[in-house]
Amino acid sequence: MNDVGAVASKAHVSSELTYDEIVRSGPGTLCGRYLRSVWQPVYHSADILPGQAKPLRIMGEGFTVYRGSSGTPHLVARVCPHRGLQLSAGFVEGDAIRCFYHGWKFESSGQCVEQPAEESRFAAKICIKSYPVREYIGLIFAYLGEGDPPEFPRYPEFENFEGLLEVDSYLRECNFFQNLENALDQSHIGFVHGSGAASFGTVLGKSLKAEESDWGLTYSYTRDDGESFVLQFGMPNIANLATLPTDPEIGFQESLHWWIPVDDESHVQFSIHRVPITGDAAKRIADRRAARRSEIDLPHQQVADDILRGRINIAEVDVKRCDIVRLQDDVAQIGQKRIADRSLEHRGVGDVGLVAGRRIWRRDLLAFAQGKPHKQWNRPASLRASVWGMNPAPGENDAHAKPVIIDMRPYIEVKMQMEAFGAPIL
Ligand code: FES
Ligand SMILES: [Fe+2]
Repeated sequence: MNDVGAVASKAHVSSELTYDEIVRSGPGTLCGRYLRSVWQPVYHSADILPGQAKPLRIMGEGFTVYRGSSGTPHLVARVCPHRGLQLSAGFVEGDAIRCFYHGWKFESSGQCVEQPAEESRFAAKICIKSYPVREYIGLIFAYLGEGDPPEFPRYPEFENFEGLLEVDSYLRECNFFQNLENALDQSHIGFVHGSGAASFGTVLGKSLKAEESDWGLTYSYTRDDGESFVLQFGMPNIANLATLPTDPEIGFQESLHWWIPVDDESHVQFSIHRVPITGDAAKRIADRRAARRSEIDLPHQQVADDILRGRINIAEVDVKRCDIVRLQDDVAQIGQKRIADRSLEHRGVGDVGLVAGRRIWRRDLLAFAQGKPHKQWNRPASLRASVWGMNPAPGENDAHAKPVIIDMRPYIEVKMQMEAFGAPIL
């Protein structure tokens, strides 16, 4: 993490933070500045072709993402500074973007270089905001904070291996922090996902542990037979975990998840899954993933809304047509309200993970608000996720090996996300 003290614009005098300060991420908010102080995934590589420009709403703020004809992605301000037209309606020219209305043209640095109706010297005085962007492991990452970006974080075991790298994401219509807390709450699994492969029965709270690590938290659950599930949570909004099969030919998969606010009441979870399987088996898995993308045609977001409004019961949902695990988590998380009211809670020992997560978030946010140095989180190779003794140790990874990237998002999910990213900023 960079020197965040330098970007904290005002000192926070209170030693307590409200939940609003922790979970609301719009421009200028404490949480928003904190999340913007690190690189975040903001878009799928697959969703923007050379020559395309799209509107992008992240943390309640509008941007324009476009891909130059060279293939390089760029991220700039949402609107043209001439008369405020949305730039994504314009034209990509090389690595520049030209406004639809009167043709002002901006380089990817944000510098205006042409204004067809104006004297030439006016353009030199106009510059829009542009943001550092990196394309990596199937995703487009951006640094949305002030000043120079921190070092770009890499995940070598997801980058250099033979097999499939599945790229995934979903839109959830509640605050991002509810999903973050849900990852640190494995006692929900036996109930919410009781019928699924991900379930591991009733979890006794006393068998859950959350210990601070160099990266964030090591959160684990140990069964009576001594085998453990170990999740590594990375500050501020990443989880690394190994999960049980989601395909008959996958023994386990290792994943990274990021929770990125679209606005305060919705977020996208970006995920990558490392599946170190090659050859015919990899092809069969990829084919099954491809078939499932179109088979799912009921948006889990809309079904969750139907359930929460009492129109249908979850038992009536056709699991062939809807992603049931996402639906289950939708109901659990959105059912707490779009922004949960945590003053109503009665927490127990089963909540040890989310309590620990809130504690380190509070500590970091407070230091950030007061302009003080805070912990420099990093991810040593020794911090590994595992599930019941299966640990996808990446030790022998070949630095030249590259996985085949496959997009596993249902098409209906892609549509829902595009609509959320492209919604107007009011
Ligand atoms: S509004 Fe963009 S050029 Fe006029
Ligand atoms: Fe869940």
